[in-house]
Amino acid sequence: MEIKIFDTYNDVSIEAANIFISTIKNIKFPVVGLATGSTPEGLYKILSDSYKKGIVSFKNVKSFNLDEYIGLSKNHPQSYRSFMNENLFKNIDISLENTFFPDVYDENLSSCCHNYSSLLKANKRDIQILGLGVNGHIAFNEPGTSFDSLTHVVNLTEETIISNSRFFESLEETPTKAITMGIHEILDSSLIILLVSSKNKSAALKKILDQQICIDCPATALLSHPNFIILCDKEAYPY
Ligand code: F6R
Repeated sequence: MEIKIFDTYNDVSIEAANIFISTIKNIKFPVVGLATGSTPEGLYKILSDSYKKGIVSFKNVKSFNLDEYIGLSKNHPQSYRSFMNENLFKNIDISLENTFFPDVYDENLSSCCHNYSSLLKANKRDIQILGLGVNGHIAFNEPGTSFDSLTHVVNLTEETIISNSRFFESLEETPTKAITMGIHEILDSSLIILLVSSKNKSAALKKILDQQICIDCPATALLSHPNFIILCDKEAYPY
């Protein structure tokens, strides 16, 4: 594990973009793992600007998102597909056919999970971007999830539903279920970048930095990865 601490969230995003761009520039057909949520928004803005300036192209990039809510309509503005379209995909030259999410609209959710797992197996990620849940979750792998987990349906914890409700009109409208990439699959990337910003992530970040691998804090699974980098701002840094 390597940790880099920055003064501001913007500095975290700049470093993440530098690593992301240099990684994909060195690979002919890059495969990337992407996260949604507030934390990677700065990164996606810089990637969008870098494309506009001609610094990077996403033409040959395939992307796999970590997760998708169950129960929202396809074009719901808070679906993760909509989030990615809005924050990144519509701004760059990636082909939408090369952008993958768990197909939560498949009536058979277990075949949806199986299909996404097969896709992930066939497309090892060159770089995986992650955010950190307040409770230490990565993707929607909540505390207690096996580190061997593959793509699966999750009942979100109360804490996560409350945290996500900021994006919805009310708590009642906030989805309670999702499909998430499993921890085993998250680890199947050549490089993992965990972005951590703001004070409310300090406790979860401390558990990682204390290096006590434990299923009660799913993000500690990342400690077993040989190429794992944490980029955090001063506010999130617990010491
Ligand atoms: C999103 C995801 C989640 C978020 C985490 C942090 O695809 O998988 O694990 O990364 O909940 O969310 P933010 O960045 O909104 O604090």
